[in-house]
Amino acid sequence: MEPIKVGLLGFGTVGSGTYTVLRRNQEEIKRRAGRGIEIARIAVRNPAKAAKALNDIGVADAGSPAVTDDFNAVVDDPSIDIVAEMIGGTGIARELVLRAIVNRKHVVTANKALLAVHGTEIFEAAHANGVMVAFEAAVAGGIPIIKALREGLTANRIEYIAGIINGTTNYILSEMRDRGVDFATALKGAQELGYAEADPTFDIEGVDAAHKATIMSAIAFGVPVQFDKAYVEGISQLAAIDIRYAEELGYRIKLLGITRRAGKGIELRVHPTLIPAKRLLANVEGPMNAVVVHGDAVGATLYYGKGAGAEPTASAVVADLVDVTRLHTADPEHRVPHLAFQRDRLSDTPILPIDEVTSGYYLRLRVADVTGVLADITRILANTGISIDALLQKESEQVDDHGKGETDIILITHETVEKNVNAAIADIEALRTVVSKVTKLRMETLN
Ligand code: HSE
Repeated sequence: MEPIKVGLLGFGTVGSGTYTVLRRNQEEIKRRAGRGIEIARIAVRNPAKAAKALNDIGVADAGSPAVTDDFNAVVDDPSIDIVAEMIGGTGIARELVLRAIVNRKHVVTANKALLAVHGTEIFEAAHANGVMVAFEAAVAGGIPIIKALREGLTANRIEYIAGIINGTTNYILSEMRDRGVDFATALKGAQELGYAEADPTFDIEGVDAAHKATIMSAIAFGVPVQFDKAYVEGISQLAAIDIRYAEELGYRIKLLGITRRAGKGIELRVHPTLIPAKRLLANVEGPMNAVVVHGDAVGATLYYGKGAGAEPTASAVVADLVDVTRLHTADPEHRVPHLAFQRDRLSDTPILPIDEVTSGYYLRLRVADVTGVLADITRILANTGISIDALLQKESEQVDDHGKGETDIILITHETVEKNVNAAIADIEALRTVVSKVTKLRMETLN
């Protein structure tokens, strides 16, 4: 049988990695897919650069795919069966993906921003045109988490997902904790090692992780992708001192993407999170990714691996190409639904605003070292119904020549609703003895 023909849009890290893996493992991939998979055309902004990259991979001119700077020509080419979008972003990538779908081509993409923001439009267009949109590489790089959620765990009522799904921030947090370097130095290291997005703001402000959490949430709970409802907080404001205090209390701070089935809706949030140091997730270091999925039947399951990089991401892209190759002649009704649930059975369960989320909290207070300060604070917490789980008070530091002292008090609370803790913080900050804003971090026990 003729190989299935792929048109590649973009030939950067992921595009060239995909080409390399497909070429190296072509025989095994063919045995798995039932026919060959051939990258027949590549569209890039700079064809000379792509030609050089192909040459570096060792592709001789004769066997080389046709390279063009005309993206539409590839998307419109009747000989192309699958368009693999490796451009990224939500601009031109969206237009090209929709055009490919209207041309009745299947799409494989690693573009988490595109699906988190425009997923509903794209999946509807795919349904209308009878094609598949495959996106394993969009979440946690080489970890087959989409496959696990959509197929392997399909018997379960998923209860929660908590994941380290951004390698850049995990690398930064590991470096800050292990080597005591500051945030800026650690970020520079992550950029030099190629982990960060083109705009590292998306990494450090939690946006990249929120795109991925949004996609997982939709698949886990059968709701539409709703990035605009996600709570997003990154690590750029995280102080090194909180990493140290958390350590003293037996916790590590990780940027987690969390989505959970709660009483009144679904939680969908990304923020720095304290987790007990003994949890496996707490020990995921450097740029590695890991996702815990808790299902009612299976309990907790953990998926670990490389969340970025040329070949790990290509591993997921090629898996999608094989899936599409196997299924492209199947009746569309017999394919696995894009969001795991049948498209006409998606639920309108709301995504909860952050005020309604339930969590434990780490609170750091800077206080004047005077009699009664702790009593005032604990009274406010008790009046708000917040129970204290642990407390750490540091030695007083002299802050002026008159012997005036200040100290840090760190409180760990039991689980409570966020709006309650915010009310308590407002009252605590109004105390004359509390000398600066309270630092609040959320905690998960992951029990
Ligand atoms: N910048 C991302 C990360 C790459 O650091 O994990 C994969 O999405």
